[in-house]
Amino acid sequence: MADALRIDNLSAGYGHATVLRGVTIAIEAQSTVAIVGPNGAGKSTLLKVISGLVRPTAGDIRFRDEDMSRWPSEKVVASGIVHVPEGRQVFPGLSVAENLWLGGYSHPERRQELLEDVLTLFPRLKERLSQAADSLSGGEQQMLAIGRGLMAAPAVLMLDEPTLGLAPVIIDQMTEALMALRARSSLSLIVVEQNLQLTRALCDAAHILVDGRIAASGATEELVGSDVMKIYLG
Ligand SMILES: Nc1ncnc2c1ncn2[C@@H]1O[C@H](COP(=O)(O)OP(=O)(O)OP(=O)(O)O)[C@@H](O)[C@H]1O
Ligand SMILES: [Mg+2]
Repeated sequence: MADALRIDNLSAGYGHATVLRGVTIAIEAQSTVAIVGPNGAGKSTLLKVISGLVRPTAGDIRFRDEDMSRWPSEKVVASGIVHVPEGRQVFPGLSVAENLWLGGYSHPERRQELLEDVLTLFPRLKERLSQAADSLSGGEQQMLAIGRGLMAAPAVLMLDEPTLGLAPVIIDQMTEALMALRARSSLSLIVVEQNLQLTRALCDAAHILVDGRIAASGATEELVGSDVMKIYLG
């Protein structure tokens, strides 16, 4: 199958601090891929480089055979690569409906259809459309952040720690929604996730990032439970 994204020998950091050191990952179209690794390894930085928020210092990223490594973040989103950052980021003063509607700004003709799709995926949001985003529970805010990302009709959706700090029952609902997304033929998912049970259920392939380098890559089933996973993640 063709690669949706091909990351080659990518290095990046902040000022003089190098974080990513020669990362190479190929992400097949329509696949679901996990990025795992210890705190500070550079997982979030990798997503920020893909989405154009941090500039690479070396290497490149190709999307459907175009070099996108220096695209501005607006062009990345418009091309269908959408990043839901860590920390349940929503517009606090706006309602659930307004948050979602804003996410669909680049698809005015499909907005209603996209909204209905998100509300089918996350029924909890449907019951809370007029509620202020900052009055939602943590799990609901995470659903809203992902829902807003889906309003941009992504071809590649990047989720940074979607279950961090959520109660088990909410993790179950999130897992169900992510499994439904995984089944969509139009979408590739890149998920940074510490929950190995979820990673195992959701992801075809996994890449272990340690100190800015890929320590191991492979089929999730093979990596989860392997020595390399135990060494780096305990
Ligand atoms: N805006 C920033 N300015 C300077 N350094 C940063 C910035 N953001 C992250 N870093 C540093 O880059 C390194 C990698 O951070 P990153 O957030 O990518 O790690 P991570 O793997 O996502 O960790 P976690 O599991 O804790 O979320 C860390 O040492 C961090 O302190
Ligand atoms: Mg992170």
